[in-house]
Amino acid sequence: MQSTITEIAPDTYRISTFHPDFGIQFNQFLIKDDEPFLMHTGFKRMFQTTLDAVSSIIAPADLRWIGFSHFEPDECGALNEWHGVAPRSQAVCSVVGAMVCLNDYADRAPRALADGEILEIGRHRLRFLATPHVPHGWDAGLYFDETEKTLLCSDLFFQPGDPVPLIESGIADLARDVMQASLNGPLARDMPYTAFTDDVFQRLAALEPTTLAIMHGSSYRGDGRKAILDLAVSARDLLSKPNGGRETT
Ligand SMILES: [Fe+2]
Ligand SMILES: [Fe+2]
Repeated sequence: MQSTITEIAPDTYRISTFHPDFGIQFNQFLIKDDEPFLMHTGFKRMFQTTLDAVSSIIAPADLRWIGFSHFEPDECGALNEWHGVAPRSQAVCSVVGAMVCLNDYADRAPRALADGEILEIGRHRLRFLATPHVPHGWDAGLYFDETEKTLLCSDLFFQPGDPVPLIESGIADLARDVMQASLNGPLARDMPYTAFTDDVFQRLAALEPTTLAIMHGSSYRGDGRKAILDLAVSARDLLSKPNGGRETT
């Protein structure tokens, strides 16, 4: 496997690896700054591939922060491998993520971030948003780069296959089609629709991101507010009722 690297926003590098066994991309995002920040580690078994890619952008030993949304192997499976090559690296995650998962799993103590807390990494200011169960997981959170208005949005806007790095239209329609198609597959209902789901989407939309850094599929540049509001409607239509809202007899 080999990664494709694309600078999707200033100092923001999308490291994309297509995994043929899954038929999807696993994308990490490296923000190059005084204290480099990596969003998602990728799988433990993909560590060498990710390491090679990161090494072409920064000295891996300089990696300072490792962020992710929720505790899953594609999000943070290689965390301890990163700790092994980057002596100053530290995971940042939600309070729940630290308490429930990383305080035991991580070889180095994580830094738990409160909802809304700012992580200064140099020129970039990252705001942590606690988003329980969005996209999934009690511990879930997302990061918003206030400097470049990039939302690091984990599994939201999921698209399968090996699409182009960045698109500038149609992201919400793509995501809706995938959400609808997945209702009949083994990975249906990856996002539980709760009484709080729409509030989270409204809060994300209000950030007015101009780039959406998407973990699986193309990233998006454009009106992020509109894309998120459209995704909120799709989620309500397709996930808030049994059978994707279809009548059953
Ligand atoms: Fe996930
Ligand atoms: Fe994921």
